Amino acid sequence: MTSSAIEVAGLRKAFGDKIVLDGIDLDVPAGTIFSLLGPNGAGKTTTVNVLTTLMRADGGTARVAGHDVTAQAKAVRARIGVTGQFAAVDELLTGRENLQLMMDLNRAGSGRRTVAELLERFDLTGAAQKSVSTYSGGMRRKLDLAMTLIGDPRIIFLDEPTTGLDPRSRRTMWDIIRELVSGGVTIFLTTQYLEEADQLADRIAVLDQGRLVAQGTPGELKRQIPGTHVRLRFASATDLDAAARVFADSTRDDDGLTLRVPGDGGTTTLRALLDRLDENALRAEEFSVHTPDLDDVFLALTGHATEVDAK
Ligand SMILES: Nc1ncnc2c1ncn2[C@@H]1O[C@H](COP(=O)(O)OP(=O)(O)OP(=O)(O)O)[C@@H](O)[C@H]1O
Ligand SMILES: [Mg+2]
Repeated sequence: MTSSAIEVAGLRKAFGDKIVLDGIDLDVPAGTIFSLLGPNGAGKTTTVNVLTTLMRADGGTARVAGHDVTAQAKAVRARIGVTGQFAAVDELLTGRENLQLMMDLNRAGSGRRTVAELLERFDLTGAAQKSVSTYSGGMRRKLDLAMTLIGDPRIIFLDEPTTGLDPRSRRTMWDIIRELVSGGVTIFLTTQYLEEADQLADRIAVLDQGRLVAQGTPGELKRQIPGTHVRLRFASATDLDAAARVFADSTRDDDGLTLRVPGDGGTTTLRALLDRLDENALRAEEFSVHTPDLDDVFLALTGHATEVDAK
């Protein structure tokens, strides 16, 4: 018995001379949520494709549910559920028919959930009789995930499950993911949203140009990136100089005439900061409170901002 749901060592994949995965190592304990965080083109979908047996790696090993993804692909497939980046639903069928078809393919009765329950859970009961061609992007993604749950897979791969969802649908998706994990399911989730990984994941790995540049709990990663800070923009370099002397722990950007002052963004801290500006007869042109996002993570971990791959 192993307690790892997913074990990956030295995984490599190239398309032609373009190296997409350059030696990936990761280990996902059973019953946890693992999030692979990265910008467009980082290699997230390629990783999911290899782990779900849809694509062969060029090197390294990957075991899912204790089985090798290349040598024992069939055994792996029997144990996983996959919701791809692009919804794999049949346009011509209704939502209900899509779910029923999946039930039939899974030899109905093996799963715990009924079609009606799934429709209800995903807020799709009202649209159940409509052809999927009339569904919005978010409705398709929800239907796609509902279909993945049929057959009760113990390891589920979700490739950017909430990209393009409105805030309410995103919360519904998060609740469903948490529910699955509390039932012992292992989730491998890719996302471009730091907040999502932070909210859901037990462990996060940051993927950049085919390499994992950081791995850890959300707390461990956040300690490596700049926290919440106030950004002040000044009218002149002289003002910026003066302010940088007043706020000794700040970071300056001479080109943008801005100063980043670390702080928690609470009203007490903000008032103290404004008072200090006043006491020193300094005036900021612009003032904003900034919470770290994916760009900050990348800047801190790689020294460069997220680079969107030209496809
Ligand atoms: N079948 C393919 N043939 C050639 N290049 C590919 C293929 N699939 C992916 N790539 C390239 O591999 C790189 C990683 O792609 P991948 O789809 O894994 O990124 P991603 O992290 O999922 O990005 P996104 O956030 O946009 O979904 C990209 O440069 C992409 O152009
Ligand atoms: Mg992708």
